[in-house]
Amino acid sequence: MDERIITQEEMDNDNSFEASIRPLSLDEYVGQDEIKENLRVFIEAAKMREECLDHCLLYGPPGLGKTTLAHIIANELGSNIKTASGPSLEKSGDLAAVLSTLEPGDVLFIDEIHRMPKFVEEILYPAMEDFELDIIINNDGKSRSIKVDLPPFTLVGATTRAGDLSSPLRDRFGIIAKLNYYKESELKDIVKRTSRVLEMDIDDDAALEIAKRCRKTPRVANRLFKRVRDFALVKAQGKIDKEITIDSLRRLKVDEFGLDQVDIEYLEALINKFNGGPVGVETIATAIGEEVSTVEDVVEPFLLQEGFIKRTPRGRMACEKAYEHLKIDKQGTLF
Ligand SMILES: Nc1ncnc2c1ncn2[C@@H]1O[C@H](COP(=O)(O)OP(=O)(O)OP(=O)(O)O)[C@@H](O)[C@H]1O
Ligand SMILES: [Mg+2]
Repeated sequence: MDERIITQEEMDNDNSFEASIRPLSLDEYVGQDEIKENLRVFIEAAKMREECLDHCLLYGPPGLGKTTLAHIIANELGSNIKTASGPSLEKSGDLAAVLSTLEPGDVLFIDEIHRMPKFVEEILYPAMEDFELDIIINNDGKSRSIKVDLPPFTLVGATTRAGDLSSPLRDRFGIIAKLNYYKESELKDIVKRTSRVLEMDIDDDAALEIAKRCRKTPRVANRLFKRVRDFALVKAQGKIDKEITIDSLRRLKVDEFGLDQVDIEYLEALINKFNGGPVGVETIATAIGEEVSTVEDVVEPFLLQEGFIKRTPRGRMACEKAYEHLKIDKQGTLF
C-alpha cells in the first residue's frame, strides 16, 4: 500500500474532513500566539471604529492553518466570507465578477494569491486601496475605462510563497502574518481537540506520539490521527493508546522524526544519486517522480527547517543530519 501523507489529491479528498474539524474562533485556534494576540487587537479596533479590518496576508507552508485562520477572521468580525483562489482567476472579468458580489464589510478570501496572473492582480490594486473597480468597456471598437465604487471589504490573501508575490501587491496588505511550524505541545492539543470533535478518545501519550511525528503541521497531525483511529477501530476495539499509535505509524511508514516515504526518497536521491548535492530541485523532483511544486512547497520546507538539507546558490545540499538519519557516512557507505 502506498501510504503518502501529503499529496495534493489526498488533500482535496480531505477537504470535507478538514472543514468538519476546523476551529471556528481565535480561542479554539491552537498556537500562533503572537498572530492571534495581534489579530484580536486589530479586529477589536476595527469593530470599535466601525470600519473594515485592514487587508491581511497569511503566509507559510501548507497545512499550518491559513484557510482556517481566514474563516476565523471573518467569524470574529461577524462578516460573511467569499472565497476565490488565485489559479481560478484567469481573466480580469473573473476577479471583477467576484468583486462585484461583495457587500459592505465582507471578507474576500483569495487562496494561493501568488498564482493570480499579473494583469488580474492589477485590478486588485485600486480595489484594495480605494475600493474602486476599473473596468474596460469595448464599444464599437472603442474601449474606455469606467470606475465602479466597491463597498469597503477586507481582503485576506493566503500563500505558501510570499516571495512570489509582487511588491505592489504585498505593500497593499496592512497586516502580514507568517505562520510558523507548531510546537509538540500545541500539536498534541490539536490532536486532542480533533479527537473530541470526532468523539473518539485518544490517550495523552498517544496524542504526543502523533504530535512528534507530524512534520509540525496540524493537517498532518489530523490525518495521522484519522488513520490511527482506523487501526485502533479494527485492531484494538477502538482504544487509541500509545502502542496502537506507534504500530499504526510504523505501518504508515512515518518515522520517529515524522519523515515519510517521500522525504526519505528525497534524501536518498540527494545523497546516493547526487553525492549529497549541490543539485537543482528540478533534478531531484524528476529523480523521485514528484512535481517540482510539491517538492518545493511541501517536502523541502520541513527538511530545511529541521536541518536535513540546505539551500545554496548552486542547489540543494544534504546536511550531516541527513547522513546520520539514513545511516550513511559521507563516502556513501552504510555505517
Ligand atoms: N491552529 C490550529 N488549531 C487547530 N487546528 C488547526 C490549526 N491550524 C490548522 N488546523 C487544522 O489543520 C488543517 C489544515 O489547516 P488549513 O487548511 O487551514 O491549512 P492551510 O495553511 O490553509 O493549508 P494550504 O496551504 O494547503 O492551503 C485543518 O483541518 C485545520 O482544522
Ligand atoms: Mg488553505
